[in-house]
Amino acid sequence: MNMSNFQSIPSPSFVLDMDRLTSNLNILQDIQQKSGIDIILALKGFSLWHVFPLVKKYLAGATASSLHESMLIFNEMGTKAHTYSPAYIPSDFEKIAQHSSHITFNSCTEYIRYLPYISSNNPLFSAGIRVNPGYSPVDVALYNPASPGSRLGVTPEKLNELKQLPCLDGIHIHTLCESNSYHLEKLMAAVENHFGELLPDLKWINFGGGHLMTKSDYDIPHLISILKRFKENHPNLKIILEPGSAVAWETGELVSSVLDIVENDGIKTAILDVSFTAHMPDTLEMPYKPNLLNASNVPLSECPFSYRLGGVSCLAGDYMEEYFFSEPLQIGQKLIFLDMMHYTMVKTTQFNGVAHPEIGYISEKEGYKCWKKFDYLDFKNRLG
Ligand SMILES: Cc1ncc(COP(=O)(O)O)c(C=O)c1O
Repeated sequence: MNMSNFQSIPSPSFVLDMDRLTSNLNILQDIQQKSGIDIILALKGFSLWHVFPLVKKYLAGATASSLHESMLIFNEMGTKAHTYSPAYIPSDFEKIAQHSSHITFNSCTEYIRYLPYISSNNPLFSAGIRVNPGYSPVDVALYNPASPGSRLGVTPEKLNELKQLPCLDGIHIHTLCESNSYHLEKLMAAVENHFGELLPDLKWINFGGGHLMTKSDYDIPHLISILKRFKENHPNLKIILEPGSAVAWETGELVSSVLDIVENDGIKTAILDVSFTAHMPDTLEMPYKPNLLNASNVPLSECPFSYRLGGVSCLAGDYMEEYFFSEPLQIGQKLIFLDMMHYTMVKTTQFNGVAHPEIGYISEKEGYKCWKKFDYLDFKNRLG
């Protein structure tokens, strides 16, 4: 990839590289075939529905975090979703059930709340519960679902409650993030250690996301061997992985360009036609410094020209600290942010498909009136 690839592409724009996406999908399909597991796409990491027909040729389905994501999977991938949310909005649940083949509940109380659906003679979906084995290799608190007091999943002290849940088909675990197969091996051991008693009676186990199987240094043969071993030890269980990042890893860019260069207190800032807070919120939230094509994140003798990159919003903190270039930046010059397809894009649209709050007004005379209620099409249309 070089600058000439981007000359004809408008700025600003998110651009997906179909060939790199297909190459990732091939890797994931190969893992599925060699290990006998199901890999499904987590929309929370990548929900560009235009490519769902392509994704469906390689993967076993997709996982949703909300009604709107489950509808997007149903309508655009032509399959029912595996759905999990920390809690379900009661008025959404009937529709979620219609669009889901599997539903995972976050707590025993939620499970019991929806028991009439689960224990019906003809249930619409297979019911699971999220468990939290207390092991995670993730250091960043924002991304660690197993930190003390985490709201995500049932902890081992409640094993007896779990054993009494009627009609439980599966368990779901998610505690990895950009992790390797050795982390998954430890996670499997933690699950067997804390929740092993449940496993013989279940039909499926979903080890969540965070498996960065398409990163160049990921040990795929080791992954396949631990998945096969787990399957041999628990032949009754269908194993599911639901990566988001791994599907769209390094598959696309955000094209931007320089609008102005300002210098204050000896610091030069190139102001761009994109915004970190509006278009790449994860860079400020995590925080992390995205890579740029043809620039360095750190000082280099061959890149003597340094600039902060400033977002076009009014937020004082909407900038990234210094990048280093071989030539001075020019007004109108394109800057290409790398690896912008997973999370960045969904965070700038509607993360998890969580419905936008409606907007209304209140007055003494009229009470509350709604101006705008956001629906499924508002969600879908943010993505194309
Ligand atoms: C429950 C669950 N499943 C899957 C994923 C996808 O993880 P990743 O994109 O890191 O593979 C996440 C990410 O937060 C998650 O919370």
